Amino acid sequence: MKNVLIIGATGQIGSELTMRLRKEYPGSDIVAGYIKGAEPKGELLESGPSHEVDITNAAQIAEAVEKYNVDTIYNLAALLSAVAEAKPQLAWKIGVGGLYNTLEVAREKGCAVFTPSSIGSFGPDTPHDHTPQDTIQRPRTIYGVTKVTGEMLSDYYASRFGVDTRSVRFPGLISYVAPPGGGTTDYAVDIYYAAVKGETFKCPLKPGTFMDMMYMPDALRAAIEIMEADSEKFVHRNSFNIASMSFDPEIIYNKIKEYVPDFKMEYELDPLRQRIADSWPDSLDDSCARKEWGWKPEFDLDAMTQDMLLHLREKLNIK
Ligand code: SER
Repeated sequence: MKNVLIIGATGQIGSELTMRLRKEYPGSDIVAGYIKGAEPKGELLESGPSHEVDITNAAQIAEAVEKYNVDTIYNLAALLSAVAEAKPQLAWKIGVGGLYNTLEVAREKGCAVFTPSSIGSFGPDTPHDHTPQDTIQRPRTIYGVTKVTGEMLSDYYASRFGVDTRSVRFPGLISYVAPPGGGTTDYAVDIYYAAVKGETFKCPLKPGTFMDMMYMPDALRAAIEIMEADSEKFVHRNSFNIASMSFDPEIIYNKIKEYVPDFKMEYELDPLRQRIADSWPDSLDDSCARKEWGWKPEFDLDAMTQDMLLHLREKLNIK
């Protein structure tokens, strides 16, 4: 990677990935692409260049790529699963129309492209345990439909036009930095905030609802390592299953209670999120990523919980 454009740089993944890339590539321009109303602030603004890039506007993508001589694009623009159900047309416009714009610019300018897929690309007919890399997907959410389309369109641009597209299927991502917005896995972030603030957590999902989750430092490393990997060894490209932990609300609650013994949780179910979560896998088989580019997670539930509690207490200034 020489110069990088991150589209969606002020979002949940983008705000951390941009900073991490700036640390790892100090001589490069790591451009924070943002939309109006979500401008970068503080360290993100001050530590490197930024450019307005609305993914639905191909000319803006091309302008940023030309101005900064970009050779790698991280396309992180998306509506998460629950919010996408409320705005399916916009979810398609950003997820598929936006990806098409990105791939076209990449084809013309010779850029590599990373576009995350998700556990949301699977559906109720998918084998739920140890979900294989190559299996039936057929998601029932618009989020999932855009993700499967994105996987296939990215593969097409690689085989038809030689665009270097690569991606992973992210599990629910947990971080203490920028909050997610409108996802089904968000509860696994919110629960830590409640624990640190001494509030009773209202869990939107039933006990027994298992999903894959990952701590953000592992997810960032995956996004960087796959773009740096030697593609000679690739059998797949878009998108690799990656995994580090799978739990249900009871397991994460009991883990937090080991460190916050007074912590309380009640169930207040959200039928939309429950339906979405029930259609997603319980645990992914990530053996292809391990074999083809050496993927290996570092954080398990215990290590993540200790780190989350420590950093959230610092961030919220709570002892
Ligand atoms: N975290 C996403 C969501 O819950 C899934 O990729 O929508």
